[in-house]
Amino acid sequence: MELRGATALVTGTNRGLGHHFAVELLRRGAKVYATARRPELVDVPGAEVLRLDITDQASVDAVAAVADDVDVLVNNAAFTAGGNLVTGDLDAIRLAMDSNYYGTLAVIRAFAPVLARNGGGAILNVLSAAAWTTVDGNTAYAAAKSAQWGLTNGVRVELRGQGTLVTALVPGLIATETMKDFARSAGIVLAEGAMIDPADLARLALDGLEAGDIEILDHLGADAKATLTGPPRAFDLQSVAAG
Ligand SMILES: NC(=O)c1ccc[n+]([C@@H]2O[C@H](COP(=O)([O-])OP(=O)(O)OC[C@H]3O[C@@H](n4cnc5c(N)ncnc54)[C@H](OP(=O)(O)O)[C@@H]3O)[C@@H](O)[C@H]2O)c1
Repeated sequence: MELRGATALVTGTNRGLGHHFAVELLRRGAKVYATARRPELVDVPGAEVLRLDITDQASVDAVAAVADDVDVLVNNAAFTAGGNLVTGDLDAIRLAMDSNYYGTLAVIRAFAPVLARNGGGAILNVLSAAAWTTVDGNTAYAAAKSAQWGLTNGVRVELRGQGTLVTALVPGLIATETMKDFARSAGIVLAEGAMIDPADLARLALDGLEAGDIEILDHLGADAKATLTGPPRAFDLQSVAAG
């Protein structure tokens, strides 16, 4: 998928990885719709900024009607802090599923016809190594990421006929403020190199998309996938802690 001259839409660009996706897409010569629930916080010079809450159907429909030239969709936005499944707050658990699964699905359903009209294009879904293991303390998020993985596989099959490339990005730990805050509050000092820089990850992901890859892994993503051949186990943050 050639990104020079493409038209990309990225969700959740006001911070974290989404910001870096929008910047890198522009650098590669794409037109970019940088979307966010709070568009006033988006700082991506050169992008067209649109308000988008992926859990609000009216908001999703409005953006799909305006951004009708999109041929690359990057589903990055997510609520990443659902807590634990058995003892956690049910509203937070639902929120994790609402954004990661239903929100991503709503955006894909709205943009699938747009992509078809524009030649097929590509969808990049940002998953997590947590989808393949789990994380004690945030099992709700991990379960929602597992659902989003299943969604990605299903949508790939369904959209093959219209020529849409559907790619899964499966990172481990990304050095965004959200992840750093989480590690700090858990009292974990992560080892040097445990977290991937979000700008580096955006480049890795877009290189993979340009190469036509259907799955893109960083080192912890690859480790998590390797565990699938053995008995199920939880991802242990302490195992990547310094010292
Ligand atoms: N950080 C990690 O270690 C890590 C590891 C593996 C995978 N990931 C995945 O990578 C992606 C980005 O993570 P990140 O660390 O950059 O997250 P982040 O810094 O917490 O940013 C999340 C983004 O998603 C937006 N968002 C949340 N709910 C939304 C909704 N309903 N509609 C529209 N936007 C919404 C947030 O907007 P607001 O500012 O309005 O909340 C924010 O822009 C996520 O899919 C995450 O699951 C992260």
